[in-house]
Amino acid sequence: MRSEGKPDKKIIKEIDILKRQIRELHGLKSELEKSKQGLKRYEEKTDDLNTGFRELSNLLQEKDQRLLDNKDKLSEVNKELLESRDELEATLNQLEAQRQLLLFEKNRLQTVIQHMGEGVLVIDSEKNIESMNERAKEILGFEGERDMPIGYKMSFILKLWKELHESRKDIVKKELHIHTPREAVLMITLACLPKKECSEGFVVVIRDITFEKRVEKMKSDFVANVSHEIRSPMAPMKETLSLVLDGTAGPITEKQKEVLTILNDNLERLLRLVNDLLDLSRIEAGKIELRRERVDMASLVKCTVESINVYANRKKIDMSIEAGQGLPKVSCDKDRITQVIINLVMNAVKFTPEGGKVSVQCTMDEGRGMEDEGRGMRDEGRGMKDEGRGMRDERSSKDRTSFIRINVADTGPGMTKEDTEALFERFKRLTGPATVKGTGLGLSIAKAIIEIHKGKIWVESEPGKGSVFCFTLPVK
Ligand SMILES: Nc1ncnc2c1ncn2[C@@H]1O[C@H](COP(=O)(O)OP(=O)(O)OP(=O)(O)O)[C@@H](O)[C@H]1O
Ligand SMILES: [Mg+2]
Repeated sequence: MRSEGKPDKKIIKEIDILKRQIRELHGLKSELEKSKQGLKRYEEKTDDLNTGFRELSNLLQEKDQRLLDNKDKLSEVNKELLESRDELEATLNQLEAQRQLLLFEKNRLQTVIQHMGEGVLVIDSEKNIESMNERAKEILGFEGERDMPIGYKMSFILKLWKELHESRKDIVKKELHIHTPREAVLMITLACLPKKECSEGFVVVIRDITFEKRVEKMKSDFVANVSHEIRSPMAPMKETLSLVLDGTAGPITEKQKEVLTILNDNLERLLRLVNDLLDLSRIEAGKIELRRERVDMASLVKCTVESINVYANRKKIDMSIEAGQGLPKVSCDKDRITQVIINLVMNAVKFTPEGGKVSVQCTMDEGRGMEDEGRGMRDEGRGMKDEGRGMRDERSSKDRTSFIRINVADTGPGMTKEDTEALFERFKRLTGPATVKGTGLGLSIAKAIIEIHKGKIWVESEPGKGSVFCFTLPVK
């Protein structure tokens, strides 16, 4: 039992314990409050983290998808690349096969060029010799490798190139006489390599025509001798025949006269032929002396054409002459040039059908001629290797030869290109009306005459479009 007014110690102790416990509870409560807030923050953080995780996983998924897409694309590209590689390989194989073929062709061509009968020189764009085959070395007399003119210029090639350049053609041909390493006649052809004006160089082909020239001369001499021998008895035969024909040798019947007249015509034709042959051989052999004089070509053409007018009138052919004013005189053999004009104009009249037109023109021509050709271009053979120093490419207009040009144009049948090239050969006659007479020597003689005057003669024609026979003579 407890005494009054004095709190029981036990109760007080109990109250203290309770107070302490309440304080602890308060402390715990405030700690709990704090933990609650922490928990809330924790939950918030956890939510944030979860959102982040979700976004990350979405991103990863997207990336995975993209990677998958890219992988598909890559495999497609890879496939295409493989296909392209196969195609490239096939193209490369084809190219290699073509290269091999080209190499083979090149080697074959080189072997052919090395062993061909003609000399071949390849000239570079600087006009230096780039290469030459065995035959060229042999013809030009180059033996040891040290002597070889590779990388040098040669005077005769420069001369020809100049001519090619001036003529504005792609090819030029010349006959050249050389004296070393031996006497020889060469036919030189110079042709531009693919591009025009030889900007990429040119090729020179040399043919030794010494033997052909010798045979030609022998043939010419033979024809000259035979013609001479045939002609000798013909003059007295003709004399005798005219004695019989005009009755001096006694009376003849009309029938006999008719037969003898045919004989006389044939004899005259034969005599003309023999005379022409003899003439041609002499001119070609250089055995005729030109009786040069200063000739006014315009008047010569007028007189000559007028003398033929009577034949033209018979065929109702309209003849016209056109001559330039104040043309310079030409130094030439008047009779020989008249012979040429007569043949050209007579041909035009002969081969042009009735009612046609023949016009003759006499003008100046700055371009054509054969000044350096053939005998005019003799090379002494010395100093064939030439550095080309001082060799001017352009000839000044003062030094350039002018030419008088005669054109004989007709409205006749014309001819093909092959015919125009072959027409100046002996006895060449095109098929035409049988009534048109001739021996086929006129144009060969005309050519020989013009060439000894250092001129040029040619024909421009097309089938059905008439012909224009032209010749030039240098004005000195
Ligand atoms: N103007 C022309 N038109 C067509 N053909 C022509 C012409 N001129 C020449 N010819 C052809 O060329 C050939 C040769 O001519 P060329 O003058 O050499 O001989 P030709 O006239 O027949 O005989 P000739 O020796 O008497 O002159 C002729 O036969 C003819 O076929
Ligand atoms: Mg003729």
